[in-house]
Amino acid sequence: PMLYIITPTYRRPEQIAELTRLAQTLMHVKNIHWLVIEDATQKTWQVTQLLERTGIKFEHLIAPMPEDLKKKKGLKPRGVSNREKGINWVRNHTTDGVLYFADDDNTYDIQIFHEMRFTKKVSMWPVGLCTGYGVSSPIVKNGVFQGFYDGWVAGRKFPVDMAGFAVNIKFLLQRPAAKMPYKPGFEEDGFLQSLAPFEPKEIELRADNCTKIYVWHTQTKKNSPAGALDAKYNSTNLLHLKRF
Ligand code: UGA
Ligand code: MN
Repeated sequence: PMLYIITPTYRRPEQIAELTRLAQTLMHVKNIHWLVIEDATQKTWQVTQLLERTGIKFEHLIAPMPEDLKKKKGLKPRGVSNREKGINWVRNHTTDGVLYFADDDNTYDIQIFHEMRFTKKVSMWPVGLCTGYGVSSPIVKNGVFQGFYDGWVAGRKFPVDMAGFAVNIKFLLQRPAAKMPYKPGFEEDGFLQSLAPFEPKEIELRADNCTKIYVWHTQTKKNSPAGALDAKYNSTNLLHLKRF
């Protein structure tokens, strides 16, 4: 089966670095269709250029966050408009395969893509470096699902991270109402609950019964703002930089 990998991304200084790392991971994986969806009103040409250089089969789409949410203070539902766009693209362009949401800043062992490829309904595995608990994972005993371990359960039926599950596309298409809510912190749970009827006990356990970590919720540190500009190192001296 083909893997459809949905990656939300947005313009910021780290964007090309993040996407380069992810792209060069995905270049080691066969039979993938990469949907890179920018939270923007225009495609970023540096992103298009990068995607074209990879040789990966891709779609470069845009899906800006709704204006009212963008203006709101505090927590925002990051990457939801992008993922919704990707889900709809999948609904309109394929009848089978497996869907995975791969944020642009996480770290992926290519083994995770082999683990998820044969998913009948929903498969899950641990995600490292996730919340203060250090890992988010299904709890498994003698090969049987027991519950979830996660640093922020918050009453969720599926307290898991976006990087910790994949969905069969036939299964998804049988659920026309399945969607991701614009609800910070509850995107995963809302989406997985919208796949009803589907119960935690039906989860297909991967990564050696959830004993191995093949994906990490890494986060890139922002550079601190520049200090006073030294005339000798004025940025006009950087005009020789052509790429990006
Ligand atoms: C965690 C989860 O892993 C995300 O899947 C979830 O969307 C997010 O929390 C949330 O609940 O808001 P986190 O590392 O905190 O992720 O968030 P980011 O990595 O900053 O953003 C998630 C994805 O959305 C990234 O691929 C990022 O490029 C994208 N994003 C972020 C946008 O498209 N627009 C934004 O304004 C911010
Ligand atoms: Mn992230």
